[in-house]
Amino acid sequence: MNKITVIGAGNVGATCANVIAHKDLANEVVLLDIKEGLAEGKALDIWQTSSINHFNTRVVGSTNDYLKTKGSGIIVITSGIPRKPGMSRDDLIKTNASIVKEVTEKSIKYSPDAIIIVVSNPLDVMTYAAFLAANKDPHKVFGMAGILDTGRYKAFLANALGASPSDIHAMLLGGHGDTMVPLPRYTSVSGIPVTELLGKEEIDKIVDRTRKGGGELVSLMGTSAWYAPGAAVSQMVEAIVDNQKRIFPVCAYLNGEYGIKKLYLGVPVKLGKGGVEEIIEISLNADEKKLLTSSAESVKKVMKVLDDMNLFEE
Ligand code: LAC
Repeated sequence: MNKITVIGAGNVGATCANVIAHKDLANEVVLLDIKEGLAEGKALDIWQTSSINHFNTRVVGSTNDYLKTKGSGIIVITSGIPRKPGMSRDDLIKTNASIVKEVTEKSIKYSPDAIIIVVSNPLDVMTYAAFLAANKDPHKVFGMAGILDTGRYKAFLANALGASPSDIHAMLLGGHGDTMVPLPRYTSVSGIPVTELLGKEEIDKIVDRTRKGGGELVSLMGTSAWYAPGAAVSQMVEAIVDNQKRIFPVCAYLNGEYGIKKLYLGVPVKLGKGGVEEIIEISLNADEKKLLTSSAESVKKVMKVLDDMNLFEE
């Protein structure tokens, strides 16, 4: 891939650019921010690690000059304010919806064919906002949350099992919020169902900690996380750039799948050079269905706030 743009040079955006460069996923990464000099500074700092960490990806910064992003194959949107202690992701909508709309419109103007990955919160609704602003095929507009959330889930499981995180495979559904639905029935350790290895009570505790995983970090640091979010986006970028067809939980546009219509929500998808190439519908038991429905309902409530803002009316 020639060029990948990361909008927003805050902690998540800069970490994302850093990991993409380390993995040499593109000839050039453009980091763009509205704050004078911030993106240039962070880009220069990352580029100065190239000879130390052995990569060739040029890392370029830009203060709000979208011309520099022209011809990008992938645009990652991290813009917006992060959570502070006591805030839910949904509290951010009023500020972040307008920002996401503006940056999507500006970047799509110079890269009409780009795949857009949204990271801004509230994630599911901000992904919808980017989809409306970009006015393009929903297979090419999707959000990152599930890899982060399963990353947390796997880290907690690895601790409980004393096992390698790499041996843990897991799936998760629903919105990126406290109603997310980690699926122990679809979690295995080198093929062994996790339910064979841990008791229900212990799994329930881990599921609960995963749901509140973002909030745990906000309480500890006073702002939201960045290492795991940045790494998670890069894994999606890698799957697209290398056309890997990997199956990840991704915030994707549902049009009837799982009985849900016109909503962005976390589901298993196949990710390749076409973006979301397939949405995989797994069978759910009654409890799992109930949890997914309630997660969808909570995302719909936030969607209503977006609708009421009338940002996308002609
Ligand atoms: C988190 C933020 C990035 O979950 O949503 O840490």
